[in-house]
Amino acid sequence: MIEDRDYFVVDPIEGCYLNDIFDEAKPIYVEIGSGKGEFISRYPQSHTNWNFIGMEMSEKRIRNCLKKLSVEQNPNVRLVRKFVDASIKNLFRPQSVSGVYIQHPDPWPKRRHHRRRLIQQDFLNSLAEIMLSDATVQISTDHAEYAAWIVEEFLNNPHYLSIQDDPIQMQPNLDEHISTWFELEQKKSGHMPHFMLFKRI
Ligand SMILES: C[S@@+](CC[C@H](N)C(=O)[O-])C[C@H]1O[C@@H](n2cnc3c(N)ncnc32)[C@H](O)[C@@H]1O
Repeated sequence: MIEDRDYFVVDPIEGCYLNDIFDEAKPIYVEIGSGKGEFISRYPQSHTNWNFIGMEMSEKRIRNCLKKLSVEQNPNVRLVRKFVDASIKNLFRPQSVSGVYIQHPDPWPKRRHHRRRLIQQDFLNSLAEIMLSDATVQISTDHAEYAAWIVEEFLNNPHYLSIQDDPIQMQPNLDEHISTWFELEQKKSGHMPHFMLFKRI
């Protein structure tokens, strides 16, 4: 019998694209920083015509995700344990990703740590290479200063524009909102999520 871990967790192979790991070819959506797996286990269940890859650097969090996934309910999900950075462009075929979700990326609040933030020009340029035209990047964060940073980085990049009139909204912006563990924890201490949605031009 196939173990769930063997089914869900994929090791990237050099020279092969993650697009090809699913038996059935469907539009590919990527979540970065899947955490405890609320989004990657639930959202794909109502989007069965799409394939999803959850990318997460922490082995402990991968195990949290696996507890929420089942082969029967999540055939369109796979997980990759990896620290995501600008090298993401080597993992997916050029112009092949239909959407990216990033819920509560680490804000690295101290100024001297800002260079560790995921949302930087080199990462956005790399992402632009693998995204289809009109593909979207949905991001949420409870950290107001990081939200402003994210908007500035996207709008300073020639490959993206904001889909929202005001690039930062305080209301969810997907067809289905999945409250993640981190969102709920931060709300308890009064830190409300800010929602952003950008389009690859
Ligand atoms: C603040 S938590 C948010 C988790 C989840 N998205 C949520 O909203 O509950 C950030 C998550 O992203 C993961 N992470 C942070 N930076 C990452 C990176 N560069 N690549 C992959 N995973 C990353 C962390 O291990 C952690 O699980």
